[in-house]
Order: sequence, then structure tokens, then C-alpha cells
Amino acid sequence: MGEIKKVGVLGCGLMGSGIAQIAAQAGFETIVREVSDEFIEKGKTRIAKTLDRAVAKGKFESADRDATLERLRFTTSVKDLADRHMVIEAVTEDLDMKNALWKELDGLCEPETIFASNTSSLTIAAMAAATARADRFVGLHFFNPVPIMKLVEVVRTVTTSPKTFERAMAFAKSLGKVPIAAKDNSGFIVNLLLVPYLLDAIRQLEHGIGSVEDIDKGMVLGTGHPMGPFTLLDFVGIDTTYYIAEIMFNEYREARYAPPPLLKRMMLAGLHGKKAGKGFYDYGADPPTVTDLGL
Ligand code: 3HC
Repeated sequence: MGEIKKVGVLGCGLMGSGIAQIAAQAGFETIVREVSDEFIEKGKTRIAKTLDRAVAKGKFESADRDATLERLRFTTSVKDLADRHMVIEAVTEDLDMKNALWKELDGLCEPETIFASNTSSLTIAAMAAATARADRFVGLHFFNPVPIMKLVEVVRTVTTSPKTFERAMAFAKSLGKVPIAAKDNSGFIVNLLLVPYLLDAIRQLEHGIGSVEDIDKGMVLGTGHPMGPFTLLDFVGIDTTYYIAEIMFNEYREARYAPPPLLKRMMLAGLHGKKAGKGFYDYGADPPTVTDLGL
């Protein structure tokens, strides 16, 4: 079985651009596919900014940044990913959209090519089954911000072959990440534990146990978390958290995964967190202030 040298990334949003960056940084010739030139520009700018910041901090030589950028190519055509050895998908969490891409690539790529999804909430088995390579299909779940967070959950579904799983573990290591083995249950390992914790923080806020600031301070200063639950909810995205919780609740039918009413109201109101400028905190101010949610 050939070595993985050429990597394809589907999607150049927050996660896709991070994955493409670390793949190119690790020496893989990387092609990123996005739907439009506008999205490509956004992704390129994000990657360039992150690399420039690393150079400015002295973490990265400017020659390494240039070499990383040289290993990165962008395209709007799925066909350009035909010669890839590993394709990682990080597009919107829409199963039909993902499966349409997988089906197209299944007919284009070599039989040895491994398909990997960065989904945080959808079932890997449902994507693998859309292809004729269900044994060469895994989950590779990265964490935000991808260039910084060391973890990758390597997800083995019921059809993943041991060989594919091994190759995916080795690939994650070659990206400089620490892989852990996860099963294809909704939430894998980290979100299975993290999401109920975040939802609980919202419930405690609804119950008036403490303020947004005090609950955040409590978890940062009392337990050494890098961010309190409300800062983390804003960072992950209120809409994203709601969406993941709904899927987990549907899978397990347990109350602890049910999105609390406040989360749903914030999602509906467009208070989607940091990326929207406002969530539990208002990012229009520096430092951010607590949003008045009428609690
Ligand atoms: N992109 C790239 N790099 C970033 C970044 C970003 N968006 N934000 C911060 N960084 C880098 C900084 O450049 C800095 O790099 P350096 O150490 O090489 O100099 C490093 O991260 C630390 O940044 P700061 O000093 O500015 O800030 P902090 O010390 O507060 O760290 C943080 C920021 C790394 C984001 C830290 O607060 C943290 O670890 N937070 C928790 C993040 C977390 O839990 N992520 C997982 C979310 S769950 C998820 O992704 C799963 C999904 O399915 C929902």
C-alpha cells in the first residue's frame, strides 16, 4: 500500500483551512477545494494570517511559512482531487451535501485513497455507505483552533478496516497531532463529555446559580480550564452547539443532551457567539462585555 503524500481537503472554512495548513506544514502536498473563489480567498487569508502570526512570534521561520504556502493549492473543482492519497472533508454539516461529494470522489480517486470526514456530529457509517469504499472510510475529528489543539479523534466505524484505521492513526501522528481511537457513536469521545457540560452550564445559568462571568471564572480559576463554559460556547458557536446537541439527543434520547431553551433562543436570535460578534459575550467591546439576555 502506497505512502500518503498527497492530501485533499474539502472545505476551507475555519476547520478546513486549519487542516489544510497543518497538512502543508507537515510536508504534504495539499489541495483544498471550495465552492467559490470568494471562499477560497477567505480561507487563504486565514491561513496566511495564522502563519504570519507564528513567524512574528518567532515560532516559525519565514522560509518555513513560504514552503508551507507553496505546498498549498486551491481549487473549485472536485476533479482536481482525483490523485490524492487521503481526502479530508470539512464542509457544512449536511449529510446530503457531504455524500454528493463523496460519491463524486469515489468515482475519481484511486481505490487505495482513504476518505476521512471531520464531522463532529454526523454518523461516519452514513457517509461510508454512500461510497464503494466503506472499508477505507474513517472519521478524523480535529479541534478548534486546529493548528493549536493537539488532539485528533480517529473514528472507526463498523465497516472501517483495521489497515485503514492504522493508516489514519499514523497519518494523524505525521501531522504532529496526538490521535485517540474513538467509536462511531454520536459525539465520539470529547463532545460526548464536553457537550453535556456546556449544556449544564446554560441550565445552571437559567436556574440563577451564578452569573455568566462567575461561572466562567469558576471553571477557569477553580479547575484550570483555558476557557470557561460560556466563553467556550461562544468560541465553538451557539448554532454549532445547538446543532450537535440536537443530533446527540436524537441518538441517545437522554435529557442531558437536550438543548436548553436559552440555547435555542440564542440560536434563533442570531446570537451565534464570537463569529457573529455576539453570544453570551458582546465582542463589540474590548474586552468583551456580558450580553444582556434578560435573565
Ligand atoms: N487560530 C490559530 N491559532 C490561534 C487561534 C486561532 N483561532 N487562537 C489562538 N491561537 C494561538 C495563538 O497564536 C497562540 O499561539 P502560540 O502559543 O504558538 O503563541 C496560542 O493559540 C495561544 O493563544 P493566546 O495566547 O492568544 O490565547 P490563549 O492562551 O487564551 O489560548 C486557546 C487560546 C488556544 C484557544 C485556548 O483558550 C484554548 O485552548 N481554549 C479551549 C479551546 C477548545 O476547547 N477547543 C475545542 C473546542 S471543541 C471542538 O473544537 C470540537 C467541535 O466538534 C465542536
